[in-house]
Amino acid sequence: MKKLIIAIDGPSGAGKSTLSKALADSLHYTNIDTGAMFRAVALQTMRQSIDLNDEQQIEAMCRSIDIRFDRSGTEERILLNGEDVSAAIRTPDVSLLTAQVAALPVVRKTLLNLQRQMGENGGVVLEGRDIGSVVFPDAEVKFFLSATAQQRGKRRYLELKAKGIEVDLDQTIAEVEARDLADSSRQHAPLLRAADAIDIDSTSMSISEVLSKMLGIINRRMIPGTER
Ligand code: C5P
Repeated sequence: MKKLIIAIDGPSGAGKSTLSKALADSLHYTNIDTGAMFRAVALQTMRQSIDLNDEQQIEAMCRSIDIRFDRSGTEERILLNGEDVSAAIRTPDVSLLTAQVAALPVVRKTLLNLQRQMGENGGVVLEGRDIGSVVFPDAEVKFFLSATAQQRGKRRYLELKAKGIEVDLDQTIAEVEARDLADSSRQHAPLLRAADAIDIDSTSMSISEVLSKMLGIINRRMIPGTER
């Protein structure tokens, strides 16, 4: 059977990560968390105290940075220049910085190339903000997953709390809204719903409900001649 490219785009906290992993598991595909890649770049700018207005420094960092996924264990890890930074990229500070770093054209170009290399042979589920619109405009299946900011903030709050990171609920909702604004209004590759994406609003749906809806759509597209 043909190995598809599946894109899941949408704002933060809509459930993309969980669903992307679950879909990849069900289909025996590779999950590619592109947000983690942008986060790793942001962490590197933080560690090197790079001024985001200094294009030369940013370019030099992009040329030398090595980002890869380690899928050898039970959990997928992201490696930045060989170091496991899976936990370090999830702090609220890195989240906010990531939205700024992700607006830089040279960063987007670097990660665009890397994402295309990782996904070009198919058999992948990529989750991000511009997968269906920019990275893989010809992806066979494109989902645009959304939920209200209130609901997404609440999910993020519970996620961080479960990891032992102390945060305030209202502040988390405000951060989600701030990131939405930054992601939607930036000039280069903003959060964009591809014209041919399938909308799913997860506000009042459980993960398993969304997953079975997605799998139903994918299965129909895997069998040639059936409904698109
Ligand atoms: O998905 P996640 O919340 O981990 O993404 C972190 C940030 O990375 C987003 O707020 C966005 O600024 C950026 N991003 C992006 N394009 C992608 C994935 C993430 O700009 N494809």
